[in-house]
Amino acid sequence: MSSNNGKSYDVVVIGGINTDYLVRGTRLPRAGETVDGKEFLEAPGGKGANQAVAAARLGARVAFAGCVGNDARGTALLRGLKAEGIHTAGATRASKAPTGVALIMVEAGGEKQILVAPGANHALSVTDLEKAKRLLGSTRVLLIQFEVPMKATLWAARLARAAGACVVLDPAPPAQASRDLLSLVDVVRPNASEAEALTGLKVKDVRSARRAAEKLLAQGIKLVATQAGDEGDLLVWNGGEKLLPRIKVKSVDATGAGDAFAAGLAVALAEGQSYEAAGALANAAAALATTKFGAQPAMPFRREVERLMKRGAQV
Ligand code: RIB
Repeated sequence: MSSNNGKSYDVVVIGGINTDYLVRGTRLPRAGETVDGKEFLEAPGGKGANQAVAAARLGARVAFAGCVGNDARGTALLRGLKAEGIHTAGATRASKAPTGVALIMVEAGGEKQILVAPGANHALSVTDLEKAKRLLGSTRVLLIQFEVPMKATLWAARLARAAGACVVLDPAPPAQASRDLLSLVDVVRPNASEAEALTGLKVKDVRSARRAAEKLLAQGIKLVATQAGDEGDLLVWNGGEKLLPRIKVKSVDATGAGDAFAAGLAVALAEGQSYEAAGALANAAAALATTKFGAQPAMPFRREVERLMKRGAQV
């Protein structure tokens, strides 16, 4: 990281934290069908926690705030984040809700389906986040998603923005965002269905991605990084755009790839890198995250990402 600029953190993440139960098989079951899988994995997950781990492995000073239950899974998840060097004092334990759970099915080509029981994630309140106030005043970037209540997310975005932080939104799972929230966001990273939820426009290729991005830029967002169908990811900002073609890797599981992308953007922007350089780091981090089974276990380290970027540059 470059000079600290008076901030104690590069990235503060406020978001969901789950235990993931993953089964990998040759194909996904159809409705009403039972299919034998091949491999099972229990692993730490949740979009917020995944992004915190990815950002830490990319070299950022990271703090996480979210909510787990008062149970053994919650204890293990927070311990895991601490082991990654992440500051977790802003996290809360709900007394009446269990730690969130995600059931994830992955097919041979790496595509996945996720069903989440949010549990304690939905108990996160503004009062809980009061203890994260100091963190929000001392970070370069705030990274948020839609797995915790909108009220809490909005409150955090207001505080961070007022303190001069760059607010990065990964609008997952898909939801409609209020004008209030979007007016506080600097950077948004939607996939196709999330872009549709935010703009009402179907996104399937570069052309439609550009139209959705322009609609978001018109609302004051500075950078939109949206999936553009099979063509890759499209970065659009006022006066410029850049297509990030998918990097060819041996993909086994797409779970967490979007989290790695969002974290890559957040880390690079905290470092003061250009939009194009931030997109390149995010794209390589996302590609590597698909090469291992599970979300958090697959989050790549900076040296691996830089190696892949160098290889890409030589192709
Ligand atoms: O983005 C992947 C994550 O979505 C999983 O780790 C799961 O917990 C769900 O939140």
